[in-house]
Amino acid sequence: MSFATTAPSEVIRDFAREVARDLALVPKQIQSKYLYDALGSSLFESICRLPWYRITRAEARLLTRRASEMVAPIADPVTLLELGCGSGEKVALLAEALRNRRRRVAIHLIDISPTALELSERTLGALEHVSVVGHRATYEEGLRHAARERPPHGGLLVLFLGSNIGNFDSPASQEFLAEIRRALRPGDGLLLGADLVKPVDELMLAYDDPLGVTAAFNKNLLVRMNRELDANFDLKAFEHRAVWNPIDRRVEMHLVSARPQTVSIAKSGVDVKFEDGESIWTESSYKYQPREIVELVSSVGFESHAQWIDPEARFALSLFVAE
Ligand SMILES: C[S@@+](CC[C@H](N)C(=O)[O-])C[C@H]1O[C@@H](n2cnc3c(N)ncnc32)[C@H](O)[C@@H]1O
Repeated sequence: MSFATTAPSEVIRDFAREVARDLALVPKQIQSKYLYDALGSSLFESICRLPWYRITRAEARLLTRRASEMVAPIADPVTLLELGCGSGEKVALLAEALRNRRRRVAIHLIDISPTALELSERTLGALEHVSVVGHRATYEEGLRHAARERPPHGGLLVLFLGSNIGNFDSPASQEFLAEIRRALRPGDGLLLGADLVKPVDELMLAYDDPLGVTAAFNKNLLVRMNRELDANFDLKAFEHRAVWNPIDRRVEMHLVSARPQTVSIAKSGVDVKFEDGESIWTESSYKYQPREIVELVSSVGFESHAQWIDPEARFALSLFVAE
């Protein structure tokens, strides 16, 4: 498989339009969903294996130990729907916990990255009691399609793992959780993985690792724009920076211009000027207190069922049931 896969024309059209719009904002920004082309998804899988990025291992530990409790409230036949599935290894742990119910499990995978979908489909291919449908779509589009395709009977468990919720600011997270609730029926579930506030030095190592893998993940956005949007970003003239914003309790990732420069992005129809030290804000990762997660999700029509915390990495998995 080649890393430089060509995206369909409508994906490139949206990318070009949103880049032009968001680089005109102050501060300049690009939505984090664009970090995940084929190479971006592979680099993210490498980040998950770094000793300093503990989210994936913490969540997998909780799922391995408690998956049966997590699926227990959901009625048969169960449909699992994962938003932003990545490698599919976590949904596989939940599907495994459903095996002893002796019913087929339908799994809907929603991810903007074709590479993530391929990886997940391969991971789940080993499980003979599941049937898998992949949706290459944004969370919102995929949720709408998958909710329409679910069977009339049985329960649906939505998985929003890996602290993907942390990429949304507070109003947007509440709005998106309400959208999830509207797609569900009473008795359906939401399993939400969220990273907790922890010492700043730990957070900095997770988002600016000594091997430079996170820097490569961030800078690959420039490579992607050069390839897909006919841009002329000079990769040597931008640096990866992660900063902890204590007021908003989020880690921000930026691409910082190392000199004054103008970059042309042909397919977006713009020439973008950068001052020395000016940045493009590419991702936010909000960090939570356990109680905040319960309050946030309960405010949009869910009842809190249980919360499991990994004390080592300070990571929470919270299970909610739609009222
Ligand atoms: C941080 S990774 C987490 C993957 C996996 N959930 C895990 O816990 O390891 C985020 C995943 O969500 C996908 N993604 C990011 N933003 C998205 C969006 N707005 N709509 C759909 N998928 C998105 C990415 O392609 C990536 O596979």
